[in-house]
Amino acid sequence: MIKPPEHIAIIMDGNGRWAKKQGKKRFAGHIRGAETVSEIVEEVARKKINFLTLFAFSVENLSRPKKEVNLLMKLLVSSLKKEFKRLNENKIRLCAVGDLNTLPNSVKNELMFVIEKTKKNKQMILTLALNYGAKEEIIEAVKTISKKVKNSIIPPEKVDESTIISHLYTRNLPPVDLLIRTSGEERISNFLLWHIAYAELYFTKTLWPDFKKEDLEEALSNYKKRERRFGKTSEQIK
Ligand code: FPP
Repeated sequence: MIKPPEHIAIIMDGNGRWAKKQGKKRFAGHIRGAETVSEIVEEVARKKINFLTLFAFSVENLSRPKKEVNLLMKLLVSSLKKEFKRLNENKIRLCAVGDLNTLPNSVKNELMFVIEKTKKNKQMILTLALNYGAKEEIIEAVKTISKKVKNSIIPPEKVDESTIISHLYTRNLPPVDLLIRTSGEERISNFLLWHIAYAELYFTKTLWPDFKKEDLEEALSNYKKRERRFGKTSEQIK
């Protein structure tokens, strides 16, 4: 039987459609989505899974209407303020990856505050991908490595997998074991491209605001049935 996942990543999709179904404005979906974040984070930590990474805001999301972007940023700040105590009670450490410098100051300040105040927590690492794009992450890594090669800090023939990993925003994360996407869309959307090289993919039609503990359970039991061969034969891994 396969080991439980060490790292789960989630593309939380379907907030807008959920709101539309309820005859509400898109933002109502994001508010309900933030409540789902809180429930699922706690449940994943309870299951002793060490890493949870959530796609909270992509580089591409920046081109949504300004009003929606601003409201999402405000929701993020209020969620961080609200959840901070619970993160500590559950011994969860918060981290963030992405181009954080271009986030509004209110988000940066709250984020840095919670990251600092939870840094000693050991139960689980919760990483929020914010203003994140995997291609942009790889481009930044290549730029830094190129400069180091040019300045003879890294010999070109020594550039290998570990050189790339150590220059990614996500350098402290292990490979993703299970990637979940909600809402019926079956694509990766520029999320964690490097770290999902051998992830098991799980797509569910459930919209993120409706995603409950039982849906997580379903994803985990589906994962259990997978055979992770990493390019080997079935016989080799038995
Ligand atoms: C996708 O739904 C969701 C997002 C773009 C943002 C994710 C944000 C949250 C879950 C809420 C706040 C987050 C945290 C970490 C507290 P969509 O708007 O693309 O939905 P649609 O495809 O149905 O329109």
